Amino acid sequence: MSISENQMVVVVTGATRGIGLAAVHRFTRDGWKVISCSRGKPPPAFIKNPLWIEHFEADLSVREEVADFTKKAVALVGKTGLNALVNNAAESPKAEYHERLGCLNGDLDAWREVFELNFFTPLLLSRGFASALHKQLGAIVNVTSIAAHAIHPFAGSAYSTSKSALSSLTREMANEFAELGIRVNAVAPGEVRTQMIGPEYDALIPRIPLNRMGTAEEVAAVIYQLCNNEFSYVTGSEIFVTGGQHLF
Ligand SMILES: NC(=O)c1ccc[n+]([C@@H]2O[C@H](COP(=O)([O-])OP(=O)(O)OC[C@H]3O[C@@H](n4cnc5c(N)ncnc54)[C@H](OP(=O)(O)O)[C@@H]3O)[C@@H](O)[C@H]2O)c1
Repeated sequence: MSISENQMVVVVTGATRGIGLAAVHRFTRDGWKVISCSRGKPPPAFIKNPLWIEHFEADLSVREEVADFTKKAVALVGKTGLNALVNNAAESPKAEYHERLGCLNGDLDAWREVFELNFFTPLLLSRGFASALHKQLGAIVNVTSIAAHAIHPFAGSAYSTSKSALSSLTREMANEFAELGIRVNAVAPGEVRTQMIGPEYDALIPRIPLNRMGTAEEVAAVIYQLCNNEFSYVTGSEIFVTGGQHLF
């Protein structure tokens, strides 16, 4: 599928389900074209969407696959460039007996794997797409987490610190990418009902001022607005989408 010069194009990672898939729907609702990436295939309904340009199957925790995906996607957008990159794909693994991957347990290699996907891949992709984003004076949104900012009872320490690092990276990138005219922001979701969270998370609802979990669509709406040109003076911000849970 070709891309015309006045067409808005976004790259979304982790788009086969959850927040990433909701983001795809939000962007296409306003006529954006989408390039996506994850290990699996998107649902059939997504493939039928005429604004879907391409879905790449790649394991973004493997550097060679990140490089290959970037090369192919950059070639696809060509001279037109890219309007937005959403660094959404991440993992929150449990340790051997399904307990949180903490500081005193778990293989250190498992920590490295978490950091590879949750931190280094957003950095690599942002670098790789910098030139394409510069052509359109585009935007990057990093999906962090409430767990980046406070102890979370279920999210592991590896996951939480990888998201803290991504939160800090958002600040550094916002400063450095500004020279290229690229805005960089983050969205920090709280408890959002997707495959990433288990039934034990229901116990957290009384701690949420809005007294319910969020939906993937509510997070996607904020991601979309941060990429939208109406938010052209917003960079280096991290928006909590938590129903107020981060206040405690
Ligand atoms: N749900 C929440 O409550 C919550 C809270 C705070 C932050 N977040 C953040 O929000 C983002 C989306 O989370 P979600 O809840 O929507 O998760 P999810 O439902 O588990 O979806 C994760 C997406 O990432 C893809 N993915 C996972 N590992 C990958 C890999 N190695 N390479 C490429 N793609 C990979 C998955 O597709 P494949 O399996 O096909 O690869 C899937 O499309 C994440 O950054 C997460 O940390 C979520």
